[in-house]
Amino acid sequence: MLRVEPISQADRDAWLAMRIALYPDEPLHVIESELDSFLNTGKIADREHGVLIARVHNMPVGFIETSDFGQNRCHIESWYVSPNARGSGVGRALIDACEHWARSRRAIELTSDTNEDYPDSPPAHKACGFLASDDDTLFEKRLGNQS
Ligand SMILES: CC(C)(COP(=O)(O)OP(=O)(O)OC[C@H]1O[C@@H](n2cnc3c(N)ncnc32)[C@H](O)[C@@H]1OP(=O)(O)O)[C@@H](O)C(=O)NCCC(=O)NCCS
Repeated sequence: MLRVEPISQADRDAWLAMRIALYPDEPLHVIESELDSFLNTGKIADREHGVLIARVHNMPVGFIETSDFGQNRCHIESWYVSPNARGSGVGRALIDACEHWARSRRAIELTSDTNEDYPDSPPAHKACGFLASDDDTLFEKRLGNQS
């Protein structure tokens, strides 16, 4: 059974492991300080964030981090699903929950970006309803009314 819910202190180790997998070149102390900043203040780099974790049968399999840019825009900072859980709807469930969080912040636009290190990212964003820039590095989705 798949569940997506707000991350908590108890998820720190799982979140850390998945974040290291997503950002293998990022220094560990930077990753850890961002996690602890969020867990202590709800902010990363002084910006309000929403962090959601996906579990399958209670095992963490993915996460999404979204920041509130203000002016009705939220931005996806990180989106990750463990390799053995990909292709079964976990990523889409994270996006759906992220959209719900963004709407709760009164966002009408959800943006995201990527680079060549993440080849799954453009097709996955597009399949989840994002419009892509010509070079497939920037994505945006208008958030309609919640139904
Ligand atoms: C991108 C990522 C989060 C998607 O997670 P996922 O659990 O595999 O996604 P889902 O199974 O929910 O797929 C969502 C949609 O995207 C499509 N999709 C996902 N990966 C795809 C790929 N590599 N190629 C084509 N379509 C893809 C799926 O087919 C699905 O569309 P559909 O329902 O119309 O079939 C995951 O592949 C991942 O973590 N990749 C490595 C990190 C990364 O690239 N993160 C984004 C950085 S910006």
